[in-house]
Amino acid sequence: MRAVVFERYGGPAEAREVPDPRPAPGGVVVRVEATGLCRSDWHGWMGHDTGIVLPHVPGHELAGVVEAVGTGVVNWRKGDRVTVPFVCACGSCGQCAAGDHQVCARQTQPGFTHWGSFAEYVALNHADVNLVAVPEELSYATAASLGCRFATAFRAVVAQGRAAAGEWVGVYGCGGVGLSAVMIAAAAGARVIAVDTSPEALELARKFGAAHCVDPSAVDPAAAVRELTGGGAHLSLDALGSPVTAAASVDGLRRRGPNVQVGLLPAAAGAAALPMERVIGWELEILGSHGMAAHAYPPLMELVRSGVLRPELLVTATIPLDAAPAALAAMGTSPGRGVTVVLPGAVARG
Ligand SMILES: NC(=O)c1ccc[n+]([C@@H]2O[C@H](COP(=O)([O-])OP(=O)(O)OC[C@H]3O[C@@H](n4cnc5c(N)ncnc54)[C@H](O)[C@@H]3O)[C@@H](O)[C@H]2O)c1
Ligand SMILES: [Zn+2]
Ligand SMILES: [Zn+2]
Repeated sequence: MRAVVFERYGGPAEAREVPDPRPAPGGVVVRVEATGLCRSDWHGWMGHDTGIVLPHVPGHELAGVVEAVGTGVVNWRKGDRVTVPFVCACGSCGQCAAGDHQVCARQTQPGFTHWGSFAEYVALNHADVNLVAVPEELSYATAASLGCRFATAFRAVVAQGRAAAGEWVGVYGCGGVGLSAVMIAAAAGARVIAVDTSPEALELARKFGAAHCVDPSAVDPAAAVRELTGGGAHLSLDALGSPVTAAASVDGLRRRGPNVQVGLLPAAAGAAALPMERVIGWELEILGSHGMAAHAYPPLMELVRSGVLRPELLVTATIPLDAAPAALAAMGTSPGRGVTVVLPGAVARG
């Protein structure tokens, strides 16, 4: 098959022929129809993820068709349309027994712990625990976002953040995660303040329901949020992952507000200095959010089916596999402008 391979961190990535994957017992191989370009892929390529073994194939935000089924799989067969939460749970550890598959102690992740979906085919483990059916009416490019950023934002806003109608929600960074969070929080009836340095990202945020847009290169974003909300947001999300946005996200909260950290903070970026005195004095909550378990998808799928949530609007570009290496590298410098989706079949099958 063809796949995007890199041999060293931050080094050249190229689309080339590699051996086809085989399904593990309990696993499947999926023919990748679409795979989103998530900033976590960029972090992996940059060497920020210690679990990656070189040479490596990135890609974890995918949708496609089951191609081959391993021994012991009972719920899935060749030809099924599927997506998968990028955290593939084992289904049997203590966390999984408690329903917390998103923090499974024995998780695997395509594109991190093994070769990923910037490829024609990808192997996925524990299929009966992790695969999610994609209805016919949902395109693969749209369904891919449900494998990582749209689902991650759904859990971050609804489950971890407990966003409620009428509340103020601050979203720092409006790329794939942040724009998803804007759309989901606005659909929940919250009043969203979108923060991003990119005018195009802010334009999309406004289109997806943001009540206010703030450019942090022009003003102190936390101060702007406190002023617009009369005291601070009820809920904040760092949807970029940087010491600056992590601190601003906490700084823009009102008393007792939860802050949800979604953006990754690699050690290379330096530690985020959070105002812990205020965390204590104002009883702020500092929460993490990590993907979403497959069993938690039904309410999200219903909101997508009914058109309340429209992840398809986030996709602003589709590219073939050969263009993925340049797009991955460009994430280090290019301003946010929605979600780019790689279509591996566009090259392979003409
Ligand atoms: N926790 C999880 O489960 C999870 C899941 C998916 C992604 N992530 C992480 O979430 C983060 C976002 O991923 P993404 O794919 O949405 O990224 P993205 O590149 O699509 O978006 C990042 C956005 O941040 C904006 N930005 C840059 N500097 C800024 C600043 N100073 N203030 C405000 N905005 C700024 C960019 O213009 C862009 O719109 C990454 O760290 C990614 O690794 C975490
Ligand atoms: Zn991702
Ligand atoms: Zn587990």
